[in-house]
Amino acid sequence: VRYISNHSSGKMGYAIAQAARTMGADVTLVSGPVNISPPANIKLIGVTSAQEMHDAVMHDIQQQDIFIACAAVADFRLADIPTHKVKKKDGMLTLSFEQNPDILKAVAAQASPPFTLGFAAETNDVETYAKAKLERKKLNMIAANDVSLSGLGFNSDRNALTVITKNNKISLPAASKYALAIELLKLLSSEY
Ligand code: C5P
Repeated sequence: VRYISNHSSGKMGYAIAQAARTMGADVTLVSGPVNISPPANIKLIGVTSAQEMHDAVMHDIQQQDIFIACAAVADFRLADIPTHKVKKKDGMLTLSFEQNPDILKAVAAQASPPFTLGFAAETNDVETYAKAKLERKKLNMIAANDVSLSGLGFNSDRNALTVITKNNKISLPAASKYALAIELLKLLSSEY
């Protein structure tokens, strides 16, 4: 009846899954609820919460060479999920949240992690925040996008990315999410 979620269409992640498959990869796509059909010939695992996504990822991760984290995972979840509809009442409504696991951080912190590519959606100081995230989460690569630019990113079929590694920074100009996914994976394979 009521929900709290992060804003994301899933289009970038699905474009990457499709591009990776086209480029010859065996793809496992762990996805929250979206309104797009999955690419053919991939393994799809559907989840509805960050905890389920974490468990599905961790279950399969030892068999993966590359982990790409494109989902807009909620950092917090309700501490108690009501079993009945929350009714309107006068005054304030107070909800308590507890932290969700950081899936990407958990993958990168493993003893022998796969190559990790994370995403950073930012509205300001995009490169600074992305670089900090790359270092804090111990990633191999991060793709940053400025979600304040109109017509790009959220729910759009187009996006633009700045791809950052420890020693490199490459801008991928605005293009369809599929075309960007191909370019992104070419960059990834040159770093892998
Ligand atoms: O939320 P944040 O901006 O730090 O997300 C950066 C990266 O971390 C993204 O690739 C996202 O998919 C991943 N992430 C995650 N688990 C979370 C939060 C974010 O894997 N709980």
